[in-house]
Amino acid sequence: MTRKRLLTGDRPTGKGHLGHYVGSWENRVALQDEYECFFLIADLHTLTTAAEQARQVSENVRELVLDWLAVGIDPERSTIYLQSLVPEVTELFWLFACLVSVPRAQRIPTLKDVMRDLAIEEPSVGLLSYPILQAADVLMVRAEVVPVGKDQESHLELLREIARRFNRLYGEVFPESQALIGRVPTLVGTDGQAKMSKSLNNAIFLSDPPEVVEQKVRGMYTDPKRIRSTDPGTVEGNPVFIYHRAFNENREEVAELEERYRTGRVGDVEVKQRLAAALNRFLDPIRERRARYAAQPGLVDEIILSGTARARAEAQATLRLAREAVGLPYQVS
Ligand code: TRP
Repeated sequence: MTRKRLLTGDRPTGKGHLGHYVGSWENRVALQDEYECFFLIADLHTLTTAAEQARQVSENVRELVLDWLAVGIDPERSTIYLQSLVPEVTELFWLFACLVSVPRAQRIPTLKDVMRDLAIEEPSVGLLSYPILQAADVLMVRAEVVPVGKDQESHLELLREIARRFNRLYGEVFPESQALIGRVPTLVGTDGQAKMSKSLNNAIFLSDPPEVVEQKVRGMYTDPKRIRSTDPGTVEGNPVFIYHRAFNENREEVAELEERYRTGRVGDVEVKQRLAAALNRFLDPIRERRARYAAQPGLVDEIILSGTARARAEAQATLRLAREAVGLPYQVS
């Protein structure tokens, strides 16, 4: 039996952090046997907000792939590829763009967020079309499952509208792909802000060395109402405990610390020291795998190029079906 397909990816904008891990990456690693997996490096998507920085992207591509390999994405089982080396995706994008009204594209909530965060007054046609290109990525391989962070749900909704519209107008070609959200949909930042993010400067990166993790944890936001270690503290919503629950595999230690914190029998310093130790236990194997891959020159490029060849063959097959369905007069062979 052929396995169902999974596709997801990231823009190569910098280092991966704990939020990426629990929001989506962990699911990807876990599903590699169950699904035929495609992981795309969405370099064309970065041009929607950083058109002038295209050159910087190539260093980020390598970092992103090393992060993926470090968490356990296995290039033997899964396909890692570079979006801009699969030009078929932009052709499929065009077929899809003609099925989406401008007001519908404007209603995507992430568009407003990006415009506000980056102080963009007038979005480019590319930025407006961001989720349509994403739909083309996913449907290019006819993937049924898309592990993503919670902020991407609205993009998948639009994707399903596009698939339904296409299938109704031209004939059944595409599945209605579903998002798969991770066990911690949005991880708080070390500063207690709603979201861990590189741009907010509140992230612990998967590539941070142990001392940096310790230092970041020491500076973490915790229960602000607690002045002395004998004051009863609040565990719920406290970022230090959210991280303990998400990353400390020693459940007994977590339960005991929570109990002592609530009853004013442990200081913040100890809770944080134990968190830093737990995070470093969690990160150690990731660091080791990263170092092993990084030590092999040319390996990352090789992985990207062979994955891209595989993805491109799929893209060509799908595009053939789509062109046929639409009824474009000449078929490419
Ligand atoms: N928009 C995604 C993000 O920023 C990246 C992305 C591009 C993607 N194409 C995709 C994710 C296709 C899943 C499927 O996180």
